[in-house]
Amino acid sequence: MAETRRPIVIGNWKMNGLVDSAVELEATIAANGQGAPCEVMICPPATLLFPFSQLIQGSALRLGAQDCHMAENGAHTGDLSAAMLSEAGATAVIVGHSERRADHGESDAVVRAKAEAAHGAGLTAIICVGETGAQRDAGGAETVVGTQLEGSLPSVLRAENTIVAYEPVWAIGTGRTPTIADIEAMHGFIRRRIEALQGDVAHGIRLLYGGSVKPGNAAEILAVANVDGALVGGASLKAADFSGIFGIYT
Ligand code: 13P
Repeated sequence: MAETRRPIVIGNWKMNGLVDSAVELEATIAANGQGAPCEVMICPPATLLFPFSQLIQGSALRLGAQDCHMAENGAHTGDLSAAMLSEAGATAVIVGHSERRADHGESDAVVRAKAEAAHGAGLTAIICVGETGAQRDAGGAETVVGTQLEGSLPSVLRAENTIVAYEPVWAIGTGRTPTIADIEAMHGFIRRRIEALQGDVAHGIRLLYGGSVKPGNAAEILAVANVDGALVGGASLKAADFSGIFGIYT
């Protein structure tokens, strides 16, 4: 089936950035010309969503959050609901990042509930999956990722409100990446798995690769079949590096 999936490059700033990081944001806005063939999004710390939402007005840049709570409100000290993130300027939220799965013990069921909460608040859910190095070495990468997809994807989803990011844990922040053949094999597997679970909607869902994407390797990775963009950590913190990645689409 011929599908038009508009590529998207997303910068995940993780726990980096203060208000003076607006300088980098403004440089990214300047580099992200209106009408560029790909979407560009920054996911800053939640404290920066509202001030950044003021700065991006009139630009093509979009804002996303890095996590949300699964509940709409309630006694959850320190947590933020999807509606709060939306009100602060986010149009999307990352759920199930491996750092949250590891640091906060988030299960597939929790990730699914968060994705459903994101959809309920009108946000796009960016759902992350990926195997550890030990799991890949043991030959279990597809089994792990398949199980994560089955457990983490909401039972009802639309191509417009769901993005899946494949981030092998061993590639995050390490400078190591899978081979191009391995990325192609895994992205093809993910597409087929989503199709098996959800049907034709799978063909419209954007699949992102994440893990040590840099300006120097982005062209090769972004050209892979079923890679519809990138989820970028470290290289998104400097506008010059980040624009060297999304600029590949222009
Ligand atoms: P790096 O690009 O720093 O490897 O991080 C990837 C990531 O975890 C993005 O969510």
